[in-house]
Amino acid sequence: KKTDNQMLVIFGASGDLTARKLIPSLFNLYLADQLPENFVILGVSRSDLTDEAFRDRVVYDSEYLKQKTKDLDDGRVKGFVDKLYYEDLGDSYDTDYAPLRKRVEALKEKHNTSGNIIYYLSTPPTLYETVSHNLSNAGMNTQNNGWKRLIVEKPFGYSLETAQELNKGLHKYFKEHQIYRIDHYLGKETVQNLLVTRFSNSIFEPLWNRNYIQHVEITNAESVGAEKRGGYYDKSGALRDMFQNHLLQLVSLVVMEPPIGADAEEIRNEKVKALKSLRLMTKDKELFENTIRAQYVASKVDGKAVKGYRDEEGVDSNSTTETYAAIKFYVDNWRWHGVPFYVRTAKRMPTKVTEIVIHFKKPHHQIFKGSEMQEMDNKLIIRIQPDEGILIKFGVKVPGQGFKVERANLDFYYASLAETYVMEAYERLLLDAMQGDATLYARADEVEAAWEFVDPILNYWNSGKDVRMYGYAAGAWGPENADGLIEGDGYWRNPSEN
Ligand code: BG6
Repeated sequence: KKTDNQMLVIFGASGDLTARKLIPSLFNLYLADQLPENFVILGVSRSDLTDEAFRDRVVYDSEYLKQKTKDLDDGRVKGFVDKLYYEDLGDSYDTDYAPLRKRVEALKEKHNTSGNIIYYLSTPPTLYETVSHNLSNAGMNTQNNGWKRLIVEKPFGYSLETAQELNKGLHKYFKEHQIYRIDHYLGKETVQNLLVTRFSNSIFEPLWNRNYIQHVEITNAESVGAEKRGGYYDKSGALRDMFQNHLLQLVSLVVMEPPIGADAEEIRNEKVKALKSLRLMTKDKELFENTIRAQYVASKVDGKAVKGYRDEEGVDSNSTTETYAAIKFYVDNWRWHGVPFYVRTAKRMPTKVTEIVIHFKKPHHQIFKGSEMQEMDNKLIIRIQPDEGILIKFGVKVPGQGFKVERANLDFYYASLAETYVMEAYERLLLDAMQGDATLYARADEVEAAWEFVDPILNYWNSGKDVRMYGYAAGAWGPENADGLIEGDGYWRNPSEN
């Protein structure tokens, strides 16, 4: 695909994301010759920095790039650094952008980037509308001299209402097709592979429904705790931080109907339909029975003492923010009627892993008595991370007399394609936006549909009613009570088992 000459203007350029993800991704794209010939990155924020200071900060002295640049030829690094500039906005993002516009125009002339611009908002979401408004006031959103696009980071809203307001706010200044809402899970190879697995093979799709699938299980576990982000996390929690966005994205890809083509709108239409078909839980009784929240408490992990969540920096000592969420729900449509979905996400688990497990129904009539498969089901495991790959568990005959059946794995690991350069999520997503491909970005109605499902759960949890907050030892697989959720269908799969 062609990448037009363009400029990338990053708001919030002195922040952590710019140094940790954006610049390293752009640098990798540059090294892989994926950037357009004429290209400029202009960092914008309220910090008083010169171009040189900015370059030092995000490249030469950056903990994320220092090693890499050391190993490279100076000229190669300089080629990238020469594209980097910085503009100080002064005290506030809410200001006249005329000086910024002047700078943008000067850089456009100097580097011949044409009028194509991506504005990347790596600021707190409270500033999205402010920045868009000021861009518009300065005439910087007009498309008559080249396209303009806007990338916004998560969190997109705090609730359905705030997400709707945010969408309305942005739509005053940008058309929906210009807005790219990032969800970095969509940039992960295996997440995209889910679409390919389902829709480019003929052996899965016929089974992908209530007739053959017993239940669907999704686990997202992280071994880290709140770390340095306690202040942010305590106002967010697992449901907002991971479930509303990343996990519901995975759910929508599992649930969606085959799109008529692979175009951004076609795929996203089906994802929205999928999200809208999730059965909303509104009654206290269903919410009580189908949702579990918990917090990690102090414990020892690998012999080392680990703090409990409430003792983390930036976290309220009486916090009722969940670090663990497990939700059971149903999908009300023809394909999925009656199939339970179990989704859990948490911090301070034994390991970092994300996987989707499709549990198939057992054969109606088992003729091989006493076989392992009598106890187990066929499973399709889509491993999002780490050890990205796909695994099918099925029964085989044990060699020898009789019909002893054992489980075997049919597996594919991405690592076996090691020769291929696999783009990191942000690289892929940035390049897509540069090329105007929004397939892997969330559309307004998609985000709102996800909030619609999450809102009643959050409201219930925060209702002050007698909602239980369980504890689990840091480094354990969550509270025991979460086992009850999945009981009718077995148990949570231990992802460390192969
Ligand atoms: C982010 C969350 O969106 O995703 C973090 O804010 C979380 O809390 C991170 O750690 C997980 O991403 P990944 O790619 O490491 O699974």
